Amino acid sequence: MAFPLLIDTDPGVDDALAILMAHRGADVVGLSIAAGNVGLAHTVANALKLVEVIGAETPVFAGCPVPLVWPAEDAGFVHGADGFGDTGYFPSARRVADEHAANAILRLSREHAGKLVLVALAPLTNLALALRLDPQLPSRVARLVVMGGAVTGRGNTHLVPAEFNIGFDPEAAQVVFSAWPEFDLVDWEACVRHAMDFAWFDRSVAASDARGQFYAAISRKARLFNEGHGRRHGMVVADALAMAVALDPSIVRKAERRHVGIELTGAATRGATVVDWEGRLCRPANARIVLEVDQERFQAVVADALGVPAG
Ligand code: BDR
Ligand code: CA
Repeated sequence: MAFPLLIDTDPGVDDALAILMAHRGADVVGLSIAAGNVGLAHTVANALKLVEVIGAETPVFAGCPVPLVWPAEDAGFVHGADGFGDTGYFPSARRVADEHAANAILRLSREHAGKLVLVALAPLTNLALALRLDPQLPSRVARLVVMGGAVTGRGNTHLVPAEFNIGFDPEAAQVVFSAWPEFDLVDWEACVRHAMDFAWFDRSVAASDARGQFYAAISRKARLFNEGHGRRHGMVVADALAMAVALDPSIVRKAERRHVGIELTGAATRGATVVDWEGRLCRPANARIVLEVDQERFQAVVADALGVPAG
């Protein structure tokens, strides 16, 4: 039976793919929306549009428009100024729900206590706020999967070791990483290792339905950006990899449990994930760091989400 899944997200091109995947394999009980890739007005509009493209009734909850403490730069130069590749899509007539994302996270965690899988694909602002409102939240969530961090310092922001989701709101990440007893961490470096071959992607899109066509259109700009920035070995779809792990943990081939903290103050390192690989701090591991997944199974889930017929 499908399990209840709540997605905290900032769509965002790779978020879109993850959301398509989720609607094939889980009972998606809501999309809680953060600012990140672009501003909140766009991430909310994109989420509503995507739910329409899918033909689902998933509620969309708007969350925090800014990080907890310091302002941050978005990633519109990667995802497009509207976060969906500036395709000029016709906006959805659907309405955002009348409940703040942080409150929705808490309510849904009570309604689905012990069963809810929470997957965080955005800066952790909404989740940190929810945790501050109710520190008991982790006890009601069956699993938390976080896309974020760069576990050996090979990040993707102007601060070399910082990955975008953590670097956008390091204080929020610190709140979550220090309060959550155990979560799965799908970091940027794993996502680069699990890029999807361009030719495979193009063949898949050619065989896909309306969902695949929509995704192909909104991802064009981000693909060009990545190819222009040395990522020529394939499409890096970070949030999609995290979603694959959330949907089916058995897809993980190799993982290590470690303590992971967040650097908040370093002038050149703010937003870095600090992994205690050698256990020198003698702190309990909070993260199960995903190092390898089954690439074939991952791509099969992606193809299915794009509407490619099986076989
Ligand atoms: C993460 O940052 C965002 O730009 C992507 O949507 C993904 O969640 C990758 O670093
Ligand atoms: Ca994202």
